[in-house]
Amino acid sequence: MTSDVRDTAVKDAARHEARLLWAGNRGLFALLAAARHTGPIARVPKLGWVVTDPVLARRVLNDHATFTMDGEGGVGHLWTQLFGPEMAQFFGGARHAEVRTRARDLFTEDGARSLVERSQGPWYAELARRLAGGETIDVADATRVLAGRLVSDLLGLPTDRDDDAFRAVFAAGERLAGLAMGTTASTELDPEVVERAREIVAEITSGVDAAYRAAGAGTILGRCREMDLGLPLARGLATLLAIAGTETGASGTSRTVALLHDTGQQHALLRDPGLMENAVREGLRVSTPAPVIGRHVARDAEVEGQRLRAGERILLLTYLATTGVGPFDIRREYVPETRQLWFGGGRHLCLGAAVARLQITRMLETLHSTGRPYRVVSRRAARRVLVPTYASLRIETHD
Ligand code: HEM
Repeated sequence: MTSDVRDTAVKDAARHEARLLWAGNRGLFALLAAARHTGPIARVPKLGWVVTDPVLARRVLNDHATFTMDGEGGVGHLWTQLFGPEMAQFFGGARHAEVRTRARDLFTEDGARSLVERSQGPWYAELARRLAGGETIDVADATRVLAGRLVSDLLGLPTDRDDDAFRAVFAAGERLAGLAMGTTASTELDPEVVERAREIVAEITSGVDAAYRAAGAGTILGRCREMDLGLPLARGLATLLAIAGTETGASGTSRTVALLHDTGQQHALLRDPGLMENAVREGLRVSTPAPVIGRHVARDAEVEGQRLRAGERILLLTYLATTGVGPFDIRREYVPETRQLWFGGGRHLCLGAAVARLQITRMLETLHSTGRPYRVVSRRAARRVLVPTYASLRIETHD
């Protein structure tokens, strides 16, 4: 590829990404566009503090005493309104450390592999067969079915159902996350929104009571029982898993597939599968499916010469912090400043990081399983969603 062609491909990939942000969430698009020029930390009227620098963002995520998850601005505030004060305990204190410690082995590389293979393995094999038979595949739809399968496994829902049942599980999670769309300016929910959210939660967690009683110790709900967490908190944690991993996982996967195609870099990956780890990391960095992380300012603090007051909120614009490094480049080495900021940082660092990476890896391996490259036949951005993504991304292999 000549450097002109390469530059055009990189611009093309960036344009598709920008379109996803614009179609998915106009408020987010505008905030990111405005904050590009504000410097590492700035105060934005009605929103609070915004941080765009990766090192500063990580400092905030590691200062758990000053920047908290519960209280206005933090995601724990939303969860507590749905599940009660036990959920605040989970996000804020000793309970959190206990749950993370007890669940750790379920989410290591090995734990992730057994979860992904158990819940999704046969589906990737089927996808490979369809591709080899010359079928056009909608990768975005596939990621929704796969996410529904993973969540059903985690939540004790039946796993021997047809694809539509898994699409419905995904859609329920999407509706619940969608209720958080209006919370950029405040995390205080209207009673009517709480009511709607509780109905969706009841649907998502319909298998949790039985699984909490009977699930084996090798499952997250079995561990919750061993810890005697009680059903309300187990339900809250199960919902957290369902929400945290579905839209983000689906978005990261389909956008990485598109980025590899649009930049033409899938050919390098086909030639050298040793680049897979880089490809997955770059896909996650450039898409950053959780583009904003919010925290509550619990006590007065000084950050980069700015005085932050207790009670304010702070938004870490992870999307800008990670994409500032440069465009998608499969040959880019690990960047120490960003580390894995797309998975957060500090004690709330994404529990499902290994699962997320593995899902992307399995999808890319499946798409390249015929030994031929794929091309995008058509694509459509999702509209009005919390996590920008593709509603449809149809691909087929070619010579
Ligand atoms: C590409 C996919 C994913 C991305 C980008 C992502 C991103 C994140 C981020 C940024 C956080 C930290 C939020 C904060 O500090 O406020 C987080 C937390 C979390 N994620 Fe993920 N996530 C992904 C996939 C998953 C998956 C697949 C699962 C589960 C199987 C999962 C489970 C969790 C859980 C349980 C937490 C809360 C951890 C805690 O508070 O201790 N995530 N994720």
